[in-house]
Amino acid sequence: MVYILLTALFLILATFSFPKLLENNSILGLYNSKRSLNLPPVVKAWPLVGAIYMLVKDPVNLIKKNYQKYGSVFTIKVLGRNVTMLIGPEVSRHFYTAPDSELSQEELFKFTVPMFGPSVAYGVSTEKLTTTIPVPNERVETTDAADYFSKWQDCGTIDLMHELQHLITLTTTRCLLGNDVRGNLSEDVSSLIRDLAGGVLPISFLFPYLPIPAHNRRDRARGKLNHIFSNIINSRKSSLQSEEDLLQTLMESTYIDGESNTNEQVTGISMAILFAGQHNTGNAAVWTGAYLLQNKSYFSKVLEEQKELLHRHGSKIDFDILGEMDVLYRCIKEAIRIGSPPIITPRYCQKTFTVTTKEGKEYTIPKGHVVATSPAMANRLDYVLKDPDRYDPDRYLSVEEEEIASRPYSYISFGGGRHPCPGEAFTYIKLKTVWSYLIRNFELDLVSSFPEGNWNGKEKILVCYKRRHLSI
Ligand code: HEM
Repeated sequence: MVYILLTALFLILATFSFPKLLENNSILGLYNSKRSLNLPPVVKAWPLVGAIYMLVKDPVNLIKKNYQKYGSVFTIKVLGRNVTMLIGPEVSRHFYTAPDSELSQEELFKFTVPMFGPSVAYGVSTEKLTTTIPVPNERVETTDAADYFSKWQDCGTIDLMHELQHLITLTTTRCLLGNDVRGNLSEDVSSLIRDLAGGVLPISFLFPYLPIPAHNRRDRARGKLNHIFSNIINSRKSSLQSEEDLLQTLMESTYIDGESNTNEQVTGISMAILFAGQHNTGNAAVWTGAYLLQNKSYFSKVLEEQKELLHRHGSKIDFDILGEMDVLYRCIKEAIRIGSPPIITPRYCQKTFTVTTKEGKEYTIPKGHVVATSPAMANRLDYVLKDPDRYDPDRYLSVEEEEIASRPYSYISFGGGRHPCPGEAFTYIKLKTVWSYLIRNFELDLVSSFPEGNWNGKEKILVCYKRRHLSI
């Protein structure tokens, strides 16, 4: 209650002090000179509170509504900051290609500091961020899925959201951080990681310490995870035990200046990797299933593909066989396009630039704006893809559609340009492993309604299952 009152007080003060500032001549002068620039249209909303409420409650709708009203470039005012959205390939080229000195992540990604600690990632200077960590694609194994699903009964009903998020946390942890971390992952830890991820809301980019329940849960989760990771690191150190995994690599690695990682840094980087690898991938696993179970014709095509692979390779699944699952690949790609792409990817504008819309309108984006693209919106533009709201994995078979989708900045589920997602290949391998196992071993039916618009992942997605042996 105290937090709500303080926040409300801050909003009221900010709202009423803005006109006062305009009365000041120098600010008015600045305002007038800015008017001669062709600035993007500003979204009309209740002063301050309107946009912030929508941004927290329903960001996808906020972006969609204003795209329809203002076009591909518009500015949303959020608690006194200008957030300029750039939607579509024409206006997002600079967003993806500009150097970090012009469009930087650093200032906005400070929201990761309360998640991973002040001594790693965006808590330290960017000069220190020189090491890249290879994502071990070939370490994905089917035994994780087999172990996990062996605990299911012969038939029953599960919440797909809960089951797949949990499984993906376990497999990501083993693939990236080795077996003993995974051994310590109880049901509890999986939900701690969910709480950490749940602390990233669009509003967190601007105000990472805003005292809202999601941030409070994030902070509690980080404290507990810190404790668990520290115990594992200390026990490896005291037993002089060494493993071949990323955790060991982090424990033994040094920075350019010769400094080693502290326990706190190893823990922070480990949590960052878990977070990057788990959250989006877990959602993608759930949406792949929801769309497949909703669209029976595609489910049948995937089933046929699995039968054909069983016929040729027996029940074995390895890295190469996963590479042959083309139908499943397209189904996953399409589910990630419309089901679970990131809502907003932001940068901080350090150097004024211009963009030109496809209609030929030029806008100036001034230094100091937050600029953002929205994969959730940009992936559904009807001048880029035919019938963009339809789940249609076969669209990638048509040469024309595939060409459009592979044009720069048209399919941006995994970003692009200077900061593309390094986990894309890993994601496909992991999702193919999980879904090929499920399809081969279970009959599945969606029993709750299709979760359209369930962006926050809070509602259950109920699926009824029955064990089977797929006959060829
Ligand atoms: C469905 C799964 C995933 C989706 C949709 C996804 C999406 C994205 C997007 C859109 C970006 C670019 C953000 C920006 O431009 O600001 C990104 C960056 C990143 N992703 Fe992913 N990702 C996924 C899985 C993964 C996995 C499995 C990992 C690691 C194991 C990972 C690690 C990263 C990292 C480290 C970056 C930052 C790259 C940089 O800043 O240079 N992601 N991801």
